[in-house]
Amino acid sequence: MEDLSNYRKSYQRGQLLESDVPENPMALFHDWFLQADADKKGEANAMTVSTVGEDGFPLSRIVLLKGYDDAGFVFYTNYDSQKGRAIQKHPKVCLSFFWEALERQIIVRGVAERTSLEQSEEYFHSRPRGSQLGAKASPQSQAIASREWLDEKIVALESAFDGKEIPRPEHWGGYLVRPVSIEFWQGRANRLHDRIRYVLSGISWMKERLAP
Ligand SMILES: Cc1cc2nc3c(=O)[nH]c(=O)nc-3n(C[C@H](O)[C@H](O)[C@H](O)COP(=O)(O)O)c2cc1C
Repeated sequence: MEDLSNYRKSYQRGQLLESDVPENPMALFHDWFLQADADKKGEANAMTVSTVGEDGFPLSRIVLLKGYDDAGFVFYTNYDSQKGRAIQKHPKVCLSFFWEALERQIIVRGVAERTSLEQSEEYFHSRPRGSQLGAKASPQSQAIASREWLDEKIVALESAFDGKEIPRPEHWGGYLVRPVSIEFWQGRANRLHDRIRYVLSGISWMKERLAP
């Protein structure tokens, strides 16, 4: 076994105190997101989306957060993909962010629903043409014969849609994840990290501190 037991880092960058956090977790998410995005070095909007599959296994993958507000968090994908099928059956999902430079993690549990057709349409057409063709060409999550099969499909679509608008595939669109709990984690020394979890109770958010 590779021995990683000496991989050890002490977290010293900040602290998270009840006196400093707002009533609304989305306000805190916004602050943290802006700080994570400030250096523009990584993709601060990359998040892990975990779903529970039809077979009961959880599955996690990275997707890009494309918007957030008090209603929740939005990402775009293929509704027929593995995650799309999982969400269809089990709309409860988990989103997580790890912002290493800030020694922060955010874990959101929530319920996913499809965004409106208009919203999916608008976002689809704002994407670069290559990404639109990619979405049309790719039967996301299905086994395919080869890379060549995909490349040939792209060439065929490029010529079929030459000079024309590419329609949004019906199976492609957004999900809005409406949060029911959001945990903010700030690394501290000696593994005594700060964790504050907001839990939705009716229409208000309750806060609690969790042991590290
Ligand atoms: C940085 C990064 C960003 C990604 N963004 C998206 C995205 O916004 N939407 C998406 O469907 N897949 C995105 N992917 C690909 C997914 O991780 C995943 O491979 C794909 O959605 C298929 O997942 P599934 O088979 O579990 O449905 C991204 C991957 C990475 C590494």
